[in-house]
Amino acid sequence: MAQRVLIFDTTLRDGEQSPGCSMNVREKRRMAAKLVDLGVDIIEAGFPVASDGDFESVRIIARDTRRVSVAALARACPADIGRAAAALEEAEHPRIHTFIATSDNHLKYKLRKTRAQVLNEAVEAVRLARRYVDDVEFSAEDATRTDIDFLLEVTRATVAAGASTVNIPDTVGYCTPDEFGETITRLVADVGDAAAISVHCHNDLGLAVANSLAAVQAGARQVECTVNGIGERAGNCALEEIVMVLQVRRDRLAHSTRINTPQLYPASQLLSSLIAFGPQPNKAIVGRNAFAHEAGIHQDGVLKERTTYEIIDPASVGVPESRLVLGKHSGRHALRARCEGLGFTLTPAQIDAVYRQFIALADRKKGVTDDEIAAMASASRLEAAS
Ligand code: KIV
Ligand code: ZN
Repeated sequence: MAQRVLIFDTTLRDGEQSPGCSMNVREKRRMAAKLVDLGVDIIEAGFPVASDGDFESVRIIARDTRRVSVAALARACPADIGRAAAALEEAEHPRIHTFIATSDNHLKYKLRKTRAQVLNEAVEAVRLARRYVDDVEFSAEDATRTDIDFLLEVTRATVAAGASTVNIPDTVGYCTPDEFGETITRLVADVGDAAAISVHCHNDLGLAVANSLAAVQAGARQVECTVNGIGERAGNCALEEIVMVLQVRRDRLAHSTRINTPQLYPASQLLSSLIAFGPQPNKAIVGRNAFAHEAGIHQDGVLKERTTYEIIDPASVGVPESRLVLGKHSGRHALRARCEGLGFTLTPAQIDAVYRQFIALADRKKGVTDDEIAAMASASRLEAAS
């Protein structure tokens, strides 16, 4: 039996606080409804103390969302926690997510506090949050650059104070998968069943998904991630990638999610339409080229049997179909298939003629359009008839 990993979506909080990604209340509400369709377990709807708009977004999402938990972020201080609690008042399953940095770097340069002060504030924050809600998550910001003994101490103390989830963020995307796996193994062994260990990985070295996966294999029970991997700087662990790794490689990985995978692409498309940019074309799972084939050998393979070059059925992630992109690397098989798709059944001699023109054109341009192919196919038929 695969063990369930909870998907904590922070598209509307960590994602939204990055350049080009801010959303108004109406846009956040639309995205939250899509996250419910997608089947995420927890929606982090915002940081209520940050602005009136953020407060209102969290309040409305909390009011509208049933069955799924709604989380609000709060620094480890009474003002933030009170504001988060107020925004979550109408939630069916409210979660207060409170955090404070624990690394010596952040203590010295950012907070100018001692370890003892930070430990005390973390515990007080969790206690206060528990007066408002039963479900409290504590995050040790910059956990991966925190002395492991202090991280263990903070984790034990916040669990004892009432946190049911302790999140271990790789805030600056610094960790490597083996290193992160070791840290999570130690924390999970120490905490046991008293709380769930969660992870929140940033992508500064391109390792956010690999680190999250290593953590899941080491016993983490919650992954924090975002649609299209948006988030601070290089982004967060991409939701669609971690979900599909667990699904596609279930032969090796004993963990599953309850994500409704055919909603992955629609969620990605909706987010792209709400913010200033979409995923890069070669982005795994949801990029424009993720199911596109241009090389002739690949096109020939996919036309004979999709699995030769596709490990995921596009329909399973909601992508309408694979695309054979016709360019200078394409072969006759793909060109014939495209001509047929456009309504032209050509003889082998006609295909040869169209192919020669097509390659000459593709050499000069970045891509050849369907209209151009139709024009060449039609001309070859007219020539044969004359
Ligand atoms: O990256 C981080 O440390 C965060 C915390 C607030 C969870 O976003
Ligand atoms: Zn973050």
